[in-house]
Amino acid sequence: MSRDNQDPKWNQYIAPQSAPKIWSIGGGKGGVGKSLVTANLSLCLALMGYKVVAIDLDLGGANLHTCLGVHIPEKTLSDYLSKKVHHLEELLTPTPNENLQIISGAQDDVGIANLKQMHKTKILNKIRELEADFVLIDLGAGTTFNTLDFFISADQGILTTLPEPTSIENTYRFIKSIYHRKLKMAEDLLEVGPLIDQAMNAKITQNNTPAQLIGKVIEMNPDMGHRLQNEISQLVPKLIINQVRTQADIDIGFSMKIVCKKYFGINLDYVGYLEYDASVWQSVKRRKPLLMEFPNSGLIQNFDRIVHRLLNLT
Ligand SMILES: Nc1ncnc2c1ncn2[C@@H]1O[C@H](COP(=O)(O)OP(=O)(O)OP(=O)(O)O)[C@@H](O)[C@H]1O
Ligand SMILES: [Mg+2]
Repeated sequence: MSRDNQDPKWNQYIAPQSAPKIWSIGGGKGGVGKSLVTANLSLCLALMGYKVVAIDLDLGGANLHTCLGVHIPEKTLSDYLSKKVHHLEELLTPTPNENLQIISGAQDDVGIANLKQMHKTKILNKIRELEADFVLIDLGAGTTFNTLDFFISADQGILTTLPEPTSIENTYRFIKSIYHRKLKMAEDLLEVGPLIDQAMNAKITQNNTPAQLIGKVIEMNPDMGHRLQNEISQLVPKLIINQVRTQADIDIGFSMKIVCKKYFGINLDYVGYLEYDASVWQSVKRRKPLLMEFPNSGLIQNFDRIVHRLLNLT
């Protein structure tokens, strides 16, 4: 596929909508492909004719621009946070694809963890005002409250993991963190804190799962319990397994889906996998987007499938 490819599936233009759809890309661990996924999903959407803004929120370790073949932009989120720049739009930097713009993350030690609540809410509101069909956010690694909030408040929260035990464990840790964050929000919203405490105290066995906890709340107060369950059920993280080499690697996504349902009562949506492909580091080395450098790579088919799956859900 090339930039001016005539394949209709890459050229179906859809009129801009009032507020952009936000897709946040996160994951517990570093180096699992978050920036690769953000960059290439953004490009796929841009090639389909959508107006896209890719934002690097990996404050402190920003490198999304490299994956998109863009030089480090002059103005970054640091300038916005330090009020040198007053409008988020001023940070929009063009990329070789006219439908795709990028907002680069801070290059200093600001760090997303240090973003104050006020800043976070302001950035989220301003993102929703951007003139685009889609805004994709590279969240960087970690499970700080800010990262979790950007993940939860997105229209789609996408998790990237590698098919190896440490990465899978980190992904579960991330899911556990968003579960607790969402539970806390629901607790405040529905004022069910005491009920949850009571359910926790009523633990019968040592190994009660979060799913069983909600069951206990439903037993004690069906109305509140169901409302709580409804809030939690809005959490439907999307999962991408990156760097797969075997069918067993691909199948890990299905097992993780089952575990999440059983343990957390959360519907993890396995939206696809990406093959391990040496062309990735070659494109990174050449500082060119994979999608442009290796249009015939099998990975492009993987991205194509994932983006269509995500679009059907939007
Ligand atoms: N499918 C793949 N095939 C081959 N190599 C890959 C693949 N995905 C990622 N890589 C390699 O892993 C490296 C890390 O990927 P990437 O920078 O996207 O991860 P990240 O999650 O954004 O990392 P960080 O948390 O450090 O920002 C890339 O430079 C690339 O060389
Ligand atoms: Mg990254």
